[in-house]
Amino acid sequence: MRKKVEEVSAKLLKYQYHYYVLADPIVSDNEYDRIFDQLLDLEKKHPELSMKNSPTKRVGSDLNNTFAEMEHSVSVLSLDREYTGEGIAKWVDKISAAGNMKAEYVVEEKLDGASIVLYYKKGILETALTRGDGIRGNVVTENVRTIGQIPLVLPEKIDIAVRGEIFIKKSEFEKFNKKFENKYSNPRNLAAGSLRNLKSSTVADVPLNMFAYEGYYKGGKGHVEILSDLRTFNFPVNKNLGLFSGDQSFLAIIKNKLPGINTGPVDKIFDYIKAQTKKRENLDYEIDGLVIKVNGIDLREDLGETSHHPRWAIAYKFDSPAAETKLEDVVIQIGRNGRVSPVAILSPVQIAGSIVARATLHNQEYIDILELGIGDKVSISKRGDIIPAVEKVIEKDLDNPSIYKIRPDCPFCGTLFVKDGAHHFCRNEECPERIRRAIVFFVAKGQMDIDTLGEKTIEFLLKKGFIKCIPDIYSFDYSKLLGEEGFKEKKIDNIRNSIEESKGNSFATVFTSLGFAGIGKVAVADLIKYGFDSFEKIRETTETGNIEAFSDIPGFGDITARFLIEHFSDKDNLKLIDDLANAGLKVKADKKEGPEIEQIFTGETWVITGSFENFNPRAIAAEEIEKRGGKVTNTITSKTTYLLAGENAGSKLDKAKKLKIKIINEKEFTKMLI
Ligand code: IVH
Repeated sequence: MRKKVEEVSAKLLKYQYHYYVLADPIVSDNEYDRIFDQLLDLEKKHPELSMKNSPTKRVGSDLNNTFAEMEHSVSVLSLDREYTGEGIAKWVDKISAAGNMKAEYVVEEKLDGASIVLYYKKGILETALTRGDGIRGNVVTENVRTIGQIPLVLPEKIDIAVRGEIFIKKSEFEKFNKKFENKYSNPRNLAAGSLRNLKSSTVADVPLNMFAYEGYYKGGKGHVEILSDLRTFNFPVNKNLGLFSGDQSFLAIIKNKLPGINTGPVDKIFDYIKAQTKKRENLDYEIDGLVIKVNGIDLREDLGETSHHPRWAIAYKFDSPAAETKLEDVVIQIGRNGRVSPVAILSPVQIAGSIVARATLHNQEYIDILELGIGDKVSISKRGDIIPAVEKVIEKDLDNPSIYKIRPDCPFCGTLFVKDGAHHFCRNEECPERIRRAIVFFVAKGQMDIDTLGEKTIEFLLKKGFIKCIPDIYSFDYSKLLGEEGFKEKKIDNIRNSIEESKGNSFATVFTSLGFAGIGKVAVADLIKYGFDSFEKIRETTETGNIEAFSDIPGFGDITARFLIEHFSDKDNLKLIDDLANAGLKVKADKKEGPEIEQIFTGETWVITGSFENFNPRAIAAEEIEKRGGKVTNTITSKTTYLLAGENAGSKLDKAKKLKIKIINEKEFTKMLI
């Protein structure tokens, strides 16, 4: 039986190699599926024979991965870089000047994806590590197994480490991203993020590709020979390669081994670089430059490496980055709802006309995807020309390599962070930073707009213990400030006046100023529009536990409804609302409050018949008509303007047709309302 399993596995591995690596399948999809199912079946019946590297493991598992760290056993340096042909020429000259006139050079594409190192023992994939900080990487083996192009078992039982790039084709990225409403910013981040996805079954759905570009094993002679070996070991190797040497017979040998390779004398490197730069746009994957490498392994060893990069290779980068700077520090911000945001503190750099010194890093996942640590050189962009973003690490701080980790506890209150989705949260409602942020939000422009209470003043009031929460703003005796530094009579008067004035703000403004998670301006306006026009009404409905009362509000949905119920079940929030009511703030809408609805149906008479998907009961449709100035009656007459007809409309429909009254269906009606 063992033999049978091995036989079927070998067959399937061969099929996978032809399909994924050569993009040239040798059997039909049906035949492939048949063999796949056969192996699955065998493994199910004889689990003891199921190999860790079985080709059936390509589909990934639903179990949560954990990404342990492990030390690299080969050195994973990054590349030094130049932005001009002259820079590259100088680099080549330097190598020749050191007595290496006969050096051969290889030119490869510099793929813009996620770096990976694959470790094989006796021909079997043991471990896949991300680059990490260059010394230790994350173990992402289970996810890497799902990438069809990566051989799980090699045709030879050798120990080898292979370095390469995981990437996604531009065309496939577009297709994939469309399915997810364009939530991914670029193929590189999606590739890097997928490697760290918790479920390998999800990774199996991402169209990941790989190119292998360095191999470390006993007996490797020169780089092109290694690449040729990597190909015979079934690794995908990029065909766009150039080899430059004065030795004609060597070029001829390699041409045989690596068909399609470009060759020429060393002084032709620069023409080749030019030609490849032009071809960049036509490629279906992203490259951000070319890599020029010394071919001979002995010469590589002679040249050696600095602590940052090898002296035997250099990157020719197409574009100098919009802005390059250093990550000086990361600070933790806590939002009013407890969400943790790591913020990059950068050496100030000019970009698109302004100085950038900070950029959000979103969350730990984003930092992990970038493999970002303090001291690293980074490139900065302004997304949409406005928001500064750290795009990628250009060079790690190899004197002190690290990847930034968000601390386990809140720096303001010491509470342990809780992870929810991609983000960390401080769940302590009494966290002084959350309270400070909530107050700052409450008084800000666009909310209660108490402009005399700036951030500095709020911080001062908090520090002195004069205020502890939002309602305290209204109960504090501001005359106590007299004599404090910077508080003169006039300033205190101004504060009092603007606080008093804020009591005139609408209910909608008070509500949104509370900054409840998920309940912004639009949600508040919808609540008021659909009759939940006071805190009291919302509280009462929450008490009945009838979530549909909220989730039925058009555009509201389950998530907003749940948020609302959560907020209005929270004792502290209810006390906050009571305190605000006692302070004299508006806790219910004035009659005219809520967006004015255009009176588009004025003078019209409507009749409604049949049943509707979204206006159930029909009274809801009637209400919409009346709100817009129309009249709703029961019987069709010659005076009827429209018949709103739903499913299974009966005699009224016939009568309307007879009288040539205009008939409107649900879809048309909905359109009229918007
Ligand atoms: S060679 C020590 N070759 O570029 C030299 N790197 O800045 C090993 N990269 O982290 C790297 N394409 O992820 C090499 N053809 C290529 C490459 C390549 C992309 C990436 C790699 C590395 C980064 C260096």
